[in-house]
Amino acid sequence: MGPSGSGKTTLLNLIGGLDRPTSGSIRVLGHELQGLRERSLTRFRARVVGVVFQDPHLLPGLTALENVVSAQLPWRRRRQLVPEGTEMLVAVGLKDRLNFPPSRLSGGERQRVGIARALMGGRPLLLADEPTGDLDIDTAEEILELLGSLRSRLGLTVMVATHDPAVARTADRVIRLSGGALRPEEPVAVDLAKRTRR
Ligand SMILES: Nc1ncnc2c1ncn2[C@@H]1O[C@H](COP(=O)(O)OP(=O)(O)O)[C@@H](O)[C@H]1O
Ligand SMILES: [Mg+2]
Repeated sequence: MGPSGSGKTTLLNLIGGLDRPTSGSIRVLGHELQGLRERSLTRFRARVVGVVFQDPHLLPGLTALENVVSAQLPWRRRRQLVPEGTEMLVAVGLKDRLNFPPSRLSGGERQRVGIARALMGGRPLLLADEPTGDLDIDTAEEILELLGSLRSRLGLTVMVATHDPAVARTADRVIRLSGGALRPEEPVAVDLAKRTRR
């Protein structure tokens, strides 16, 4: 969490292997990123971290299912991908929207497609950069609930970058950034009632 310009996107992009640091080293779930060649970094991105953006940038000519599987087509067979993509779309609550193009989905549904796409390949870590920034309050709440329930159902780690205190309140742990640096961690009060409900 941190104000605009504090370095949230930069930090997530470094963890996700989308950017490389000018100095220092990065280890993500046991993977040392700095020594990795492009090929291994691509594999890391395909197998370890999924990224959810503020705008999911779905391809307009493809259905929800095609959008979810297409990013993985270079590595995997279509025959495998279609059942997995279907399963992921069901997991995000879009069982009835598999063959809808993005133009027939609501903003919240499009973001769900983006989340399903990020979960492909059994990735254990989900990075979400202001995932609710473009959504109205009720839809944002639904997306946060979905992330929380996916986290427990699939055993994921979810890292969300936000400047919105309402989003931060749904987290177990809040790490603050300012001026490109992590602030010493403050104890976080976790709302246990809320967690059990989830
Ligand atoms: N640790 C850092 N060291 C140097 N520059 C940084 C660092 N973190 C962020 N920046 C720079 O600060 C600017 C804003 O960062 P960004 O990650 O987009 O912030 P946010 O997502 O919080 O709005 C960018 O130009 C980025 O390159
Ligand atoms: Mg940002």
